[in-house]
Amino acid sequence: MLSIQTPEVQNSGRRFLPDAASPVETNPTEETNAPETKSPNQFLFPLTARVNSKDTLEIGGCDVTDLVQKFGSPLYILDEETLRAACRQYRQGFVRYYPGESQVLYASKAWNCLAVCAIAASEGLGIDICSGGELYTALQAGVDPGKIYLHGNNKSRSELQFAVESGCTIVVDNWLELKTLVGIQSEKPIRIMLRLTPGIECHTHDYIRTGHLDSKFGFDPNQMDELFAFISQQSTLACIGLHAHIGSQIFELQPHTDLGSVMVRWLSKASHYGLPVTELDVGGGLGICYNEADDPPSIDEWVKVVVASIVAACQEQQVPLPKLLCEPGRSLIGSACVTAYTIGSQKVVPNIRTYLAVDGGMSDNPRPITYQSICRAVVANRMSAPFTQTVTIAGKHCESGDILIKDIELPNAQPGDILTISATGAYNYSMSSNYNRIPRPAAVLVGAGEANLIIQRETYSDLIYQDCLPERLRHTEV
Ligand SMILES: Cc1ncc(COP(=O)(O)O)c(C=O)c1O
Repeated sequence: MLSIQTPEVQNSGRRFLPDAASPVETNPTEETNAPETKSPNQFLFPLTARVNSKDTLEIGGCDVTDLVQKFGSPLYILDEETLRAACRQYRQGFVRYYPGESQVLYASKAWNCLAVCAIAASEGLGIDICSGGELYTALQAGVDPGKIYLHGNNKSRSELQFAVESGCTIVVDNWLELKTLVGIQSEKPIRIMLRLTPGIECHTHDYIRTGHLDSKFGFDPNQMDELFAFISQQSTLACIGLHAHIGSQIFELQPHTDLGSVMVRWLSKASHYGLPVTELDVGGGLGICYNEADDPPSIDEWVKVVVASIVAACQEQQVPLPKLLCEPGRSLIGSACVTAYTIGSQKVVPNIRTYLAVDGGMSDNPRPITYQSICRAVVANRMSAPFTQTVTIAGKHCESGDILIKDIELPNAQPGDILTISATGAYNYSMSSNYNRIPRPAAVLVGAGEANLIIQRETYSDLIYQDCLPERLRHTEV
């Protein structure tokens, strides 16, 4: 699927937008009956991104430069249509390909806040959480506790207690947690899943690989017999399922196929212990496009492959089809959001580099400094301006490594221009910090030309809200 681009599109910010850019060839065939819809994870910018008649970037029918004027800078701009499209593509994929029951969970660690949890739940998704704070947020957003799954490799007793009292399912990661749960009172048996490490390697950054044996998460599958024997003696625990997650930002499908047969083997083993294990959660991990070199499969392809591997393994091992769960995060929300910054100072190092600094950086987008990820940006107020320079986008933090994008082509940019970085929906706000005591940006939800604040901009007084100044330190004079 090649799009024909005029030279002016090829050499300007327009080329990154869904109308101009082509997604990865998905090859829909009659046999797959794959949908013709655009898979958000295959685009750099949200599906609604357009250039309007003022030559400015528009998302969800809202002019990005107007949004910055109204809500300030930096600003996270979340496109509701793209997020909902991704939720529906996952759900519809399971309906299309899987003959059994299924449930898609949103891995809310990607971005946990009230509005995002509410949107995911309204699309029929459950929520995967990994702390008491994420659980609290999901409950406050009105998510049904029956569809909430708690993860974590070191859940505290109080987090476990909170989860049990709320009625959510606990994905047990280790023996300490299992034994702590045995000591927690509950009117009904506590619904648990077991997280196991499948020993599957995939090609992604070391920090986001979790399925290999040397991972801090989950039980060693060699302990399965011991685990099942122990749990079958516990009347207060109902082990309803098994879980694995192999990593994040994965473009290959083979590891997910391999995972299917490994997990069905586990399922078959559990049945020998008479445990009511009927759910398999295959985790998340599907990658998204952060730059033109990224080439992830579509959501539909991912679901199809995952389902095919489970169905084939169940047939082969003569195991009834489980209720199938998955828990994507990045591929649901990553491509739905952009961050708009205002360009400030410029430093030219002759014959070496030109730095353009923006009013945010590693505190609102820690991905480049953490994972050396490469992202893309456009100048939102001059979308058709030709690229004339290669620059490096620097953040404003006191840290040399606070570089958001190294060597990117841009038009001649001036202080006050609105630089907009794509694909910032996942692991940006949720991993943000107040480094250098910089307040976190606001976030707006856009759709059909309307913008609603979903997270307020932090203020200086928010920054010291939890600080305490002991009396003896007040009014001290040197
Ligand atoms: C247990 C678990 N499930 C789901 C996810 C979501 O992964 P992704 O955002 O890559 O889909 C993660 C993220 O690392 C995870 O640790």
